[in-house]
Amino acid sequence: MRVLITGASGGVGRALMARLPEAHGVAHSQLDVTDGQAVAQHIGAAAPQVVIHCAALTDVDRCAQQPSEALRVNAFGTQNVALACQRIGAALCYISTNEVFDGERGTPYGEYDPPQPANPYGYSKYVGEQIVRQLVPKHYIVRTSWVFAHNGRNFLQRIVSLAREGKPLSVVTDEVACPTYAEDLAEGILALIATERYGTYHLTNQGAVSRYAFARAILDAYGMPEYPITPIVKAQFNRPSRPPTYSALQNNFAALLGIALRDWRAALDAFVAREIQGV
Ligand SMILES: NC(=O)c1ccc[n+]([C@@H]2O[C@H](COP(=O)([O-])OP(=O)(O)OC[C@H]3O[C@@H](n4cnc5c(N)ncnc54)[C@H](OP(=O)(O)O)[C@@H]3O)[C@@H](O)[C@H]2O)c1
Repeated sequence: MRVLITGASGGVGRALMARLPEAHGVAHSQLDVTDGQAVAQHIGAAAPQVVIHCAALTDVDRCAQQPSEALRVNAFGTQNVALACQRIGAALCYISTNEVFDGERGTPYGEYDPPQPANPYGYSKYVGEQIVRQLVPKHYIVRTSWVFAHNGRNFLQRIVSLAREGKPLSVVTDEVACPTYAEDLAEGILALIATERYGTYHLTNQGAVSRYAFARAILDAYGMPEYPITPIVKAQFNRPSRPPTYSALQNNFAALLGIALRDWRAALDAFVAREIQGV
């Protein structure tokens, strides 16, 4: 299967490329998805059967400060990719987010629960979802959350580096979701696109946890069980973006296809083992 991956140098893109080295990976430096003509030309020339669209503006605070830029990259950029797929009849796998849900309900979200984004990042990704549904019949929409990737710039790395620098840590207790290891997600995505069962999927590691408890588990796994973390609530954390309170995702439909990611604690252990011991 000929696969093209946008955002190939991002956390998820790299994990996909490691599993599928023969894929045509395109980094931001090679292709800006907001350039419609370049996207059409690039995807047209590569003639993939499936495009996995990972490129996105993922800095949620920047999206909150620059909502039109979030829409330009995450929605208009996705429209460019979707139109290019439409022209050549390629399937499109769009990576979306738990932040399409506002998290106010307090119970896990299923694939077909109605989204209601609470912030500009979630809104821009939700618009991207709708564009994909409208333009490309052969699509997979894969929502995931709290991705941690090797050499990434995610929550996990921030917690570890702040602790290593001896900086004070305050982490919220009232933001809950499912941490997801990029390697497990990549495996799940590749299994999914082999099925040709187009539709909307949730793919996360199993189990939901608060940011605070996740930070604690991260430092425990890195051998810093005594490092203090002050529990706070979102109202005490001054940041531009408003994350959903409880946005755990039920992975119903992937499970029905036999695709299930392991528990997040086992995934964290595997991540740390590879980081520390290189296994
Ligand atoms: N990380 C998470 O926790 C998380 C959670 C839920 C869903 N997702 C979704 O998963 C997908 C992959 O995310 P990730 O974790 O791999 O994020 P990432 O590490 O930030 O990767 C995103 C990639 O997109 C590239 N990019 C940004 N603007 C672009 C543009 N205009 N044209 C082309 N490429 C552009 C970035 O390049 P530069 O850095 O060089 O700009 C980066 O390499 C995204 O669609 C994201 O919305 C992520």
